[in-house]
Amino acid sequence: MEKLIVTGGTPLQGEISIQGSKNAVLPILAACLLGEGPCELENCPEIKDVEDTLHILRKLGCQVNQSGKTVRIDAETAAGYEIIGGEAARIRSSVLFLGALLGKMRKAVLPKPGGCAIGKRPIDLHLAALERLGAAFSCEGEAITAEGNRLHCGTIRLGLPSVGATENSILAAVLLPGETRIEHAAQEPEIDELIRFLNLRGGKLQRMGDAIVIEGGRCLHPVRFRIASDRIVAGTYLFAAAAAGGELHLQNYAADQTLAGVLLQMGGICRADHLGGMHFQMKHRPKALPGIRTAPYPGFPTDLQSPLMAVCARADGQSRIWETVFESRFRTAQELQKMGAEIFVQGNLATIKGKARLHAASLRAPDLRGGAALVVAALFAEGISEISGLEYISRGYEDIGADLCLLGAKIRRHESETR
Ligand code: EPZ
Repeated sequence: MEKLIVTGGTPLQGEISIQGSKNAVLPILAACLLGEGPCELENCPEIKDVEDTLHILRKLGCQVNQSGKTVRIDAETAAGYEIIGGEAARIRSSVLFLGALLGKMRKAVLPKPGGCAIGKRPIDLHLAALERLGAAFSCEGEAITAEGNRLHCGTIRLGLPSVGATENSILAAVLLPGETRIEHAAQEPEIDELIRFLNLRGGKLQRMGDAIVIEGGRCLHPVRFRIASDRIVAGTYLFAAAAAGGELHLQNYAADQTLAGVLLQMGGICRADHLGGMHFQMKHRPKALPGIRTAPYPGFPTDLQSPLMAVCARADGQSRIWETVFESRFRTAQELQKMGAEIFVQGNLATIKGKARLHAASLRAPDLRGGAALVVAALFAEGISEISGLEYISRGYEDIGADLCLLGAKIRRHESETR
């Protein structure tokens, strides 16, 4: 089993280019099923979730060619509508094929998405939204069957601004003649990327207040498209510098107002460069955050909550973090406590009493972003930490160890016999 071996105590220094966005590319890959091919995607992150999604596209009959970070997908020959077992059961984002397959094939058979480490991850909002467009669902065992032979445009009002339900609604509606409105739509930038991709292909989608309005039924032609930088990976590395100290230059990402505000509140210095990148400096021990809540965009992203917790574990003072998006996303706290962190979890509130120094420990990633948070904490802990569970981290980070080594961190991979 592979582990990361991290020697703490070295501030970060240097510049880095941020990988393509996992949460932008996954819905766009599903959208490649729609319209005429082939589509060419540049700056695709080389991560496990993309690898699994490309496998699903191949199983559906698409021609898929990958060369490094460029992927070419031609769905002309795709005639499948079943994605059962294997990768589809493993990655939650396979649920995004529901909308795309209904849009293309008027039929879909998918595994019932299971919950995961961070929550139950239901899909009731997805199903309710697609039923508004005339889809009908049935469950047999572990599979969901969707019928869409009476699919039509219409108005959807989401109970929660769910990212996935918004994306599935777009993917099902974009080829349906007529106007579809998605009200109370999620505002995440990754959805704007999906809209940009579909508009560049000839679609006509736009945000109007809290709604997304789709003029459906237009031809979608092939396109070459560059995936934007991953804001969660960028935020993870900015928090790594906030925790370990030092100075970073992100060449191709600039923090949005919410993230920059948190970094400034902790005593960091942010400066955008004029090329779409940013400089960040943390000269002292970070200051505590009296109270911060995760929330749907433009609020503080739940995906950065665990890395932020690692920074708060070192901050000077008491911090409080409310997790309002997922019901069990504080599992990183137990691992940080092995390093001496003082964290008290009560329901959806974590209270963290920062300590100038944590000690190294043998740690196990509880989930994707929790694993990244452990790397952040190991960077400033005294001694040499071991982090296992890299299969979680590689779902969303191309190579967090190599990236942080580029910035001066002392990290190496180690293959060990023990499980
Ligand atoms: C997307 O997940 C992201 N994944 C998640 O990133 C991210 O944490 C989440 O959005 C919130 O920003 C991808 O884009 C592939 P939601 P998604 O539907 O679409 C509840 C990462 O680390 N809900 O906005 O599944 C749900 O349980 C991952 O990169 C329902 O109740 O998130 C959650 O509490 C983790 N019913 C809340 O809404 C539904 O039908 C937000 O979920 C759907 C969701």
